[in-house]
Formats: sequence, C-alpha cells, structure tokens
Amino acid sequence: MKSLFKKPINYYAIGITILIIITGFVLLQVIDNYIVLASVLLTEYIILIMILLHVFDTYIKPIQKATKTMDELVKGNFRARMHHPITGSIGELSSKINALARNLSELSFHEQMQAEQFSTVINNTQSGLVLIDEKGYIHLVNRKFVSMFGKAQKDYVGYLYYDVLSNEKVHRTVQETFLYEKNVKKSFTKMNGGRQYIEIVGAPIFNERNILKGAVLVFYDITELKKLEVMRKDFVANVSHELKTPITSIKGFSETLLDGAMEDPESRKHFTQIIYDESKRLQSLIEDLLTLSRLEKEDSQLTLTEVNVSQLIEEIKPIIEQYAEQHHINLSMKCSDLSFTADYDRVKQVFINLLTNAINYTPANGNVALSVDETDENIRIEVRDTGIGIPEESLPRIFERFYRVDKARSRNTGGTGLGLAIVKHIVDVHEGKIEIDSEVNKGTSINVYFPK
Ligand SMILES: Nc1ncnc2c1ncn2[C@@H]1O[C@H](COP(=O)(O)OP(=O)(O)O)[C@@H](O)[C@H]1O
Ligand SMILES: [Mg+2]
Repeated sequence: MKSLFKKPINYYAIGITILIIITGFVLLQVIDNYIVLASVLLTEYIILIMILLHVFDTYIKPIQKATKTMDELVKGNFRARMHHPITGSIGELSSKINALARNLSELSFHEQMQAEQFSTVINNTQSGLVLIDEKGYIHLVNRKFVSMFGKAQKDYVGYLYYDVLSNEKVHRTVQETFLYEKNVKKSFTKMNGGRQYIEIVGAPIFNERNILKGAVLVFYDITELKKLEVMRKDFVANVSHELKTPITSIKGFSETLLDGAMEDPESRKHFTQIIYDESKRLQSLIEDLLTLSRLEKEDSQLTLTEVNVSQLIEEIKPIIEQYAEQHHINLSMKCSDLSFTADYDRVKQVFINLLTNAINYTPANGNVALSVDETDENIRIEVRDTGIGIPEESLPRIFERFYRVDKARSRNTGGTGLGLAIVKHIVDVHEGKIEIDSEVNKGTSINVYFPK
C-alpha cells in the first residue's frame, strides 16, 4: 500500500479521481438518488484502484526493480540481483537480468585474476621491463627495473622515455627498434655500488594489422656472467703462466746440458735434479688441475661410503709423518673412533692438503696437530700449526685458485696454489663449511666441518 502514495501512483490516483468526478457529473443527469449514485461511484472507484494496484504490482514495480538492478550493474556492482518470483514474462526478464549479472561477475573475476597474474609475472621477473608506446611514452615499468635504475614507478610511467631515462645506449636501442622494426641488443655498464653490466634488448610490438604500436625494453643484469667470463680468462692466463715457468726451466737446463754441461759430472747432477724437480711440479700442477676439473664437472657424482676416520688417518700417516720429519716438524694426530658418510678419496685429499700446508708453512721445530671430533650434526677436522700465519687481508682470498700469500715460498714448497681451492670445492660439494683462524707469526687453525 505504501507504494500507492509514491509519486507515479499519485498521478494515477488523481486521474482516477477526475474520472470519478466526470462520471459523477454524467450520472447525475440520469440518477436522482444520491445514495445510489454514491455507491455506484464508490464501486467504480474501488474497481479502478484495484486495477491500478494490480497493474502497478505486476508491471511497474518489477520494471522499477529491473532498472535499479541495471543501474547497479552499470556502476560495476556485479553482485546486484533482481528478486522477483519466476513467473510470467517479467519473471523471465528477472532471471535473464540475474544471469547477465552472474556472467558479468564471472567475467570481471577472471579479468581481475588475469590482471593480478599478469602483474605478478611482470613484477617478479628477474629482468627489468619497460613498455613504450609508438609516441615514446612509457606505459609500464616493473619492480626489477625500478630496483636497477632507482626512483619509483610513478616517476617513469606517463613520461617520454628520453626525459626519464638518461642512458644514451637506451635511447639508441629504442630508436633502432622503431627504425628497423626488429629486435635490437646492446649492452652498457653503470655504477651501482660496484660496476654493473647490463644487457638491453628492444623488441617491437605490432598490432593485428602489423602496424608498429610500441616497444618492450628488457634489461638483463649480466654482472655475474661477466665476472665468470673474467674469472675464466684469468684462470686460462694463470694456468698458462704456471705451466710456462717449469717448462722454461726444463727447456733451459736441458739446453745447457746439451751445450756441454753434460761433460761436467757436478753440473750434470745439479741440472738433472732441477729438471726432475720442475717436472714433478708440472706433474702436481696437472694433477691438481685435473682434480679441480673433475670436481667441477656438473655430472660428477660423489661416491658416498661410510668413512672411518681412524682408518683414513692410518692410511695417510706414513706419507705425512715422513713429510713432517723432512721438515723437522713435530706432528700429532688425534682421533677417536668416528665415522661419517662421505666420498672417501675426496675427504682423504682434504686431510692431505691441509696437513701439507700446515707443514709447509711452519718453520722447523714447529708443531702441527690434527684432531677430529664430532658435534651433534658435524664431524669437525681441525688442523692447527705454529707457523707463519696468514695476514688478515689475505684470508678471504686463500681459497681462490693460484692465490698465494708469498709466491716464492709456495713455489719452494712445491705448492701449486690450488690446494685450498680443491679443499673448498670438496667441502662445498659435501655441503660442509670451513672456518679459519690465523695470526701472522703465531700460527693457523683451520676447521673443516662435514655433515654426518
Ligand atoms: N697453514 C698455513 N699457514 C700459512 N699460510 C697458509 C697455510 N695454508 C695455506 N696458506 C696460504 O694460502 C695459500 C694457498 O694455499 P694452497 O691453495 O694450498 O696453495 P699452495 O700450493 O701455495 O700451498 C698458500 O700459498 C699460503 O700462502
Ligand atoms: Mg697447498
């Protein structure tokens, strides 16, 4: 009934009243009895009002509801529904509007999901991305790009690329991508803490009619790759240098022998000894290089067995004891009965490399002590010496290939500069760790931990 007093209904009510008054005037001419006239008019009034209410409830009200629901849908509220009994043609309209709303809601959900996935992918790629339209305006930059070049996304988006990107190589990449309409690749360096190497690829974007619509710029941080390349070059240069020294020496002394020194028994013995020593150095260098390259092979696998530490120490004892004796070093080797799972030959190599270092870098009458014990998770191997020690600034570098604190001393001991690099590699592939503590002229202690 309340809706009866709403605006549209009011007009109909006024219309009905006017109709009743007109009917009243007409009937007044034929009916003299006022009571009869009044009851006729009242009956007419009631019938008309009932018809009006029926029309209103059946047609006008549902259309109002439909309009309201549509308004909500237009505003983007896809959860709006029309509530109406599903009978007659208005019922059909109601269920169609609701189906439309459901479809829109699903569609917008999918669109939202896709947009979220798209932005997750864009923002989490490990390369910087910039999207530029055909006029040169930036439409999108991702998180990685911002972390590479600083500022915030809003400082790039909406601006011309040459106003916000200062690098000349970037400008040239964009220009050439637009000019040649194909992928363009360039690289440049920038200072970002250290030197950063960046490769940039510009790729044109075409619409379905093959008209250029813009370009995507992809920025790759290739600093690590460059570092590896430099390391590889350094390694080749180092190896060549290390090989050259003994070979030059062997060649020189054999030439001297051939030139006549052979006749003098003293020189002959002396030079042959040098040739022998140098070829031994060459041999250990090649052996160490082969060990390293075997360790580095990606498919190289550890031969895991139960390593009994006492047994391993018994095995290396004769060689190490003899070596220590030659260098006049007091050697002590302590170990309780321990075993753990590891690659036996490689662990043996770790023991030998650490012990020979300790003996090599400890002056005569010094002490070298090996002890092995265990913690909850690890087997700990400690090699302690009272030797020359390692200066603090060299500590981070001693595991690098060919790094020696004192080149001449290392060479005299027959060292290749690869011993600790091999140790580090072996420990890494076993997922262990190394701790080193050293003081110049006091001694060094190296702790190696292998997981049990
Ligand atoms: N116990 C130690 N005491 C002093 N210096 C050491 C010790 N172990 C290693 N070093 C230093 O670390 C360098 C690298 O060791 P390593 O890789 O075994 O090569 P090297 O063939 O020279 O022994 C050595 O040249 C030496 O300067
Ligand atoms: Mg060594």
